[in-house]
Amino acid sequence: MCGIVGYIGKREAYPIIINGLKRLEYRGYDSAGIALFDGTDIQLSKTKGKVVDLEARAEKEITMKGNLGIGHTRWATHGVPNDVNSHPHYSNSGDLVIIHNGIIENYASIKKELQNRGYTFKSDTDTEVLVNLIEEVKKKENVKLGKAVQIALNGVVGAYAIAVFDRNKPDEIVVAKLGSPLAIGIGDDEFFIASDASPFIEFTNNAIYLEDEELAIVRLGRDVKVRKIKNDKLVTPHIHELQLNIEQIEKGGYDHFMMKEIYEQPSVIKDTYRGRLLADQGLIHLGGLEDYIPKFLNADRIIIIACGTSWHAGLVAEYVFEDLTRIPVEVEYASEFRYRNPIITEKDVVIAISQSGETADTLAAIKLAKEKGAFVYGICNVVGSSISRETHSGTYTHAGPEIGVASTKAFTTQITVLTMIALKLAKTKGTISKRDYMLYLHELELIPTRVEEALKSNEKIKEIAEVFKNASNFLYLGRGCNFPVALEGALKLKEISYIHAEGYPAAEMKHGPIALIDENMPVVVIAINSDHYDKVVSNIQEIKSRKGIIIAVVTEGDTAVTEMADYVMVVPKTPEMLTPLVTTIPLQLLSYHIAVLLDRNVDQPRNLAKSVTVE
Ligand code: AGP
Ligand code: GLU
Repeated sequence: MCGIVGYIGKREAYPIIINGLKRLEYRGYDSAGIALFDGTDIQLSKTKGKVVDLEARAEKEITMKGNLGIGHTRWATHGVPNDVNSHPHYSNSGDLVIIHNGIIENYASIKKELQNRGYTFKSDTDTEVLVNLIEEVKKKENVKLGKAVQIALNGVVGAYAIAVFDRNKPDEIVVAKLGSPLAIGIGDDEFFIASDASPFIEFTNNAIYLEDEELAIVRLGRDVKVRKIKNDKLVTPHIHELQLNIEQIEKGGYDHFMMKEIYEQPSVIKDTYRGRLLADQGLIHLGGLEDYIPKFLNADRIIIIACGTSWHAGLVAEYVFEDLTRIPVEVEYASEFRYRNPIITEKDVVIAISQSGETADTLAAIKLAKEKGAFVYGICNVVGSSISRETHSGTYTHAGPEIGVASTKAFTTQITVLTMIALKLAKTKGTISKRDYMLYLHELELIPTRVEEALKSNEKIKEIAEVFKNASNFLYLGRGCNFPVALEGALKLKEISYIHAEGYPAAEMKHGPIALIDENMPVVVIAINSDHYDKVVSNIQEIKSRKGIIIAVVTEGDTAVTEMADYVMVVPKTPEMLTPLVTTIPLQLLSYHIAVLLDRNVDQPRNLAKSVTVE
């Protein structure tokens, strides 16, 4: 999720690695580390905290120069952020040193096997398991590092961008990629390795971007050799001549982190269900939930507490949980819940949702619920955050660092986790048929593709934004599990464009808000194929008869609403329960483009903070 940097060549590696890690700073991280190798000795320094903290520590711990080095900024997925869990990691023999971005989902079973063979572990990470798996393969098969990495990676499930070197082979670094990015900078008898080109762009603009399931041996005096991990086939890599500047690279070529994160949603939704959603086997495996399923199934009710966008994800979950599990669900603003002396008993299960894991109101509400005896389950995006430590158990989203203040990929990965929990509970309780259960598992697995489809409307949505950028007010309407999406769409617009917007259940219009409708009021209506479709058509007719302007989110192939609406934003078909994962996409894009057209500070909107740690 975070950043890797490596160097081998004629220069001193240390400054290149440290400066390279600073260039990756924008990716957000919780710890950092570096290892240097001079052909004889290896020295390693790593710490929780920022790269400046690493520099301060390395000043004492790194006393040599080396022309081979690897460095890492960590966004923890397994093992809280601390010195020991930071990267790089040694293998047991001390001969191999690795850095890794990504997640090894089946690390627990591999770790157990390695422990049975006498391996010991200093850290709680999946990465330390991987480097010892490589060591075990190297010894057992009596092969070189490159081959050992290839064999080992054929046995792991997960995502990775890794760089690993062997004390016995001072002229090479082995790298491999699946899911996480990895670039190789080609210099004059020197090579650079990094998550993107920003750490080496001033040294060379010639780069190879590994494709998924590719491994490369980066060896001095030789061309980079790239192979397919699965079948060992040699690949002729394309050498890109980069024209990007640092600023552009940091944002992955996008103008803002928010847009980058909107487009990351297909991959981070996949990261969030990777190794957890096994559709073909009809399984959902959530480590933090397994032991507490009876608590959920025997609960009088589930109380969901959160703030902002996370609260909207909770509202979506209310529809999904009640429909699938028949367990009563209440959704509360944490900031209200904590002060209203709520009735909570030990028969209640509380789910706390928070991207940052540091929101003060949510943390306070959790403490209150625990004091009153409730079981509290957390859904956070930051490993080791206060909320993840305060809750009894939980499931992490794997969205990676969310830099833009406006939450986008956090929202869709939260809904992904919540949907997996609801499906798991419903299957255990027997409140869902096997057919529906299997359907939802396969459809959930297809969501990344559906989101990619929805993103294809970007240019069309940009044109719509051009038309409405000067509107003073917006209304957002939705029904069922898309009512919370209407609220979320209105929040996105408000917080980055500063245009007033309100979300309502579509049926609520006739109870007052319809008085607002006139020819100056754009109304965004989520009108996808659903049980509510005909009712939403009536709501649209009510608005049009009062000269309101309709911007409709419709399912591909729609005709009725498409004819009635002034503008449409199309999303692919998916079961209604999963539609919030796709209907939110055009609303994110609409708010983004309007904000850009109004020249707003999209990534850091006025008055807002990414994590509201104050009350
Ligand atoms: C959403 O775009 C905002 N950034 C804000 O509402 C946010 O969702 C809220 O502050 C909750 O943050 P959390 O998920 O980190 O707890
Ligand atoms: N899964 C590894 C860990 O938790 C790597 C996380 C990352 O990508 O930074 O240490």
